[in-house]
Amino acid sequence: MKIAIIGTGYVGLVSGACLAEIGHNVICVDLDCEKIKNLKKGTVPFYEPGLDKLVKKNIKNKKLFFETDLTKALPQSEIIFIAVGTPAMRNGEANLSYVEKVAEEIGRNLKKYAVVAIKSTVPPKTCEKIKNLVSKYYDGQFDLVSNPEFLREGSAVEDFMKPDRIIIGAQNEKAKNIMRELYSPLNALIYTTRLESSEMIKYASNAFLATKISFINEIANVCEEIGADVGEISKGMGLDPRIGKEFLKAGIGYGGSCFPKDVRALRHSSGVNGYDFCLLKSVIKVNNRQRQLTVKKAKKLLGGLKNKIIGVWGLAFKANTDDIRESAAVEIIKMFLKNGVKVKVYDPIAMANAKKELSGKVVFCEDLYEAADKSDLLFIATDWDEFKKTDLLKVKKLLSEPKIIDGRNIFSPSEMKEIGFEYWSVGR
Ligand code: UGA
Repeated sequence: MKIAIIGTGYVGLVSGACLAEIGHNVICVDLDCEKIKNLKKGTVPFYEPGLDKLVKKNIKNKKLFFETDLTKALPQSEIIFIAVGTPAMRNGEANLSYVEKVAEEIGRNLKKYAVVAIKSTVPPKTCEKIKNLVSKYYDGQFDLVSNPEFLREGSAVEDFMKPDRIIIGAQNEKAKNIMRELYSPLNALIYTTRLESSEMIKYASNAFLATKISFINEIANVCEEIGADVGEISKGMGLDPRIGKEFLKAGIGYGGSCFPKDVRALRHSSGVNGYDFCLLKSVIKVNNRQRQLTVKKAKKLLGGLKNKIIGVWGLAFKANTDDIRESAAVEIIKMFLKNGVKVKVYDPIAMANAKKELSGKVVFCEDLYEAADKSDLLFIATDWDEFKKTDLLKVKKLLSEPKIIDGRNIFSPSEMKEIGFEYWSVGR
């Protein structure tokens, strides 16, 4: 099938490359000329395992093309995806201006029937608004579809190729069948719904996973008071299939470009529609408090923070990504700095992105040992595999004091004690 994808951010580019890989002819469109120039050469603007290989291969096979001009991509397309950003505004509301602008342009340039599919995460009822917007400029036939994505950074290609489910919200069978045909090579479970339900499934899924994380973080905090081990509790709870074992890892709170934004947006849009979603208010509060508790722990362990040196391992919001958006690591570092701490940081791949935000404020180290060297405390903020394989005896020698706060529970407390660390983790 012939596909256009507007927006070559995370969602758009992964979807475009994967749709080309399963046999479709895909044109990815973005306003950013520099980005498109690089993509044409196969240069992916962010780190995502397996993506650059897929992009290069499908450019070579003439299945994947890049354009800055929307009007060149539209005429031949059977499905036009909108995959531009919906960043959060100050009040939590999703900013729909990019989606609306693209919809307007599609309306102005559409010449024949096509399915317009929204992949951007949008609040319920947005698709209906977008449909009206396209209709304002185009009086021919088209269908609007909601097709949210469930890709995780770090495993996005695999998530696309082997999805648990594909959600398609549409108003008629014709549009549903076109979308079914698109995804048929994946042999995946396809669940079709009405438009608003599909939009809500995306928000509800992210908000529920964020709730699970805040829930286990609260259990972890209680565990610290009563001497239980949150790892054992997650395992014990997760054995119940009604609960499930995923997203029960306690830590320093969820971050990234999706959970924080989507939880706030769902809360805001519920409020606008007359419902106070009070559970989500607590989910957000617990998530913020988890960062503050980490700073409190460091203060207690060091007997004050002013002029102390803290080495930080990990800047990305989770392992296997270079993304630092709403990263708990970066937020905690900023709190350390406010408290007069000197901070030394290391991350396997997120350093370049972190420099944009922390340059001149922290010391960027060549490797994890340099970050530990002469530090009064080591804080583990991201669960990179590299950190798990480290020479702990060497780390102990390098630290001024053998003190570690492990915000991701990557080591065993008993082994750390045996080595001679004063080791504080989360909920253990
Ligand atoms: C998330 C969802 O998992 C995807 O399904 C969704 O498509 C995506 O958002 C999106 O809306 O685009 P992602 O943001 O890549 O994916 O990251 P996750 O793996 O979900 O992790 C989010 C945050 O929760 C990270 O900071 C992670 O460290 C934290 N987390 C995750 C925990 O603290 N504990 C856990 O048990 C799991």
